[in-house]
Amino acid sequence: MEAGVWDGMFDRAVGVLRRNDMGGWTRAAPNLYPHQWSWDSAFIAIGLARVNPHRAARELITLFSGQWANGKVPHIVFNPHAPPRSYLLGPEHWAPAVPIPDAPALPRQTSGLCQPAIHAIAALRILEAADEVGSGEMADGARMFIRHLYPHLLSWHRYLLTERDPEGSGLVTIYHPWESGTDNSPRWDAALEAVKVGELAPYERFDLQFVDEPSERPAREEYDRYLWLVELLKKVSYNEAEIRRTHPFLVKDVLFSAILISANEALLEIAARVGAPDEEREEMETWISRGRQGLKGCYDPTFNLCLDYDLRAGEPVRVRTIAGFAPLIAGEPDRERHDALLDALFSPAFVTDPGLRWPLPPSTSPKEPRFHPRAYWRGPVWPVISWLLWHSLRRDGEKERAADLRHSSLEQLDVGGFAEYFEPFTGEPLGSDDQSWTAAVALDWLLEDD
Ligand code: SER
Repeated sequence: MEAGVWDGMFDRAVGVLRRNDMGGWTRAAPNLYPHQWSWDSAFIAIGLARVNPHRAARELITLFSGQWANGKVPHIVFNPHAPPRSYLLGPEHWAPAVPIPDAPALPRQTSGLCQPAIHAIAALRILEAADEVGSGEMADGARMFIRHLYPHLLSWHRYLLTERDPEGSGLVTIYHPWESGTDNSPRWDAALEAVKVGELAPYERFDLQFVDEPSERPAREEYDRYLWLVELLKKVSYNEAEIRRTHPFLVKDVLFSAILISANEALLEIAARVGAPDEEREEMETWISRGRQGLKGCYDPTFNLCLDYDLRAGEPVRVRTIAGFAPLIAGEPDRERHDALLDALFSPAFVTDPGLRWPLPPSTSPKEPRFHPRAYWRGPVWPVISWLLWHSLRRDGEKERAADLRHSSLEQLDVGGFAEYFEPFTGEPLGSDDQSWTAAVALDWLLEDD
């Protein structure tokens, strides 16, 4: 760690995670998100890995205790003690009229959606952190942890690459914008607008009490559609075949798919460590090459970006967002394309827009007509996305650019605290304060030297 430069930030980040620690799992944020969220938890485990590998392992084990019988890892595992009127959709909102055959056997209450599968990357970081410590007890603990988690990770990835990819495209189909983790990104506008909302019970937006301005959160029309899509999924008891047949929102998400490719690389390493059978490793290799092939087919040479594909409309989603850099996250083997993507990332449409407070990627390009600098995923900078890009660039030997992202991100957090997201031009912290995953990626950055 660079002593002196980021004075006090390490302790502040540890403090956020400690205060959000609910005993074996971490709430995503103190008020706005009082439950355990799936990809938040994985980032939290990444941050905790080198501070407390044992606790990091616990985070993932707790999350996976909510895994469904079909392999799906739910996007929320509910906190039974969350204060009333704190989060709009409690466990009761997800239960269909008839029992769900795939729901978890354990008495954990969960949502019925999922989120990007970054968990295997987190699990591998925990193993690597335990290796660094090197003590016998830690190594034994890490071995037990990974023997326990490996089959769960495998069935999670298998679910995504079968039920969510019956076409064998290597790309994951999402059923709801919440599954992308980038809820109100303009990536979903057209597909959402095509959803005809039926009769919805009245509801209250509890989320709005925890932000300064309603514009920081998705709009009412978006929420109506979010809730209606949940109703439709419940109506078919989350039956995958029925969803594929009837659901109005089916989109191949390139960012989710890219994270899964990278997670499959991590899972391959884990498989080697646990001595998994050759067939399982071959299965992962097939997933990886199929995924890369799938992303290749989504490349748009005019934007130099990768585009999601709306299965219902039968067309690519032509909008410039950070998801366009999916191949960089997956690992782009074609050098020419890799460089074109890097040029696009460091172009004025993203990181080198001269008005930016820090040269960090806005979630949506300021050049997009639907860009909004304060509105959640329509423009603000999200430190976890900067982390994903940093991690990918470093892996691919882009040391200088990775170091710049890390340095600017740490400056952003030093000035603005561990906010959920940041206004790109002013650097104003927005959304929730003390967001766990922001503190977690800060820890990971602080423990690196470049
Ligand atoms: N991110 C969503 C929310 O704002 C749900 O996963 O509630």
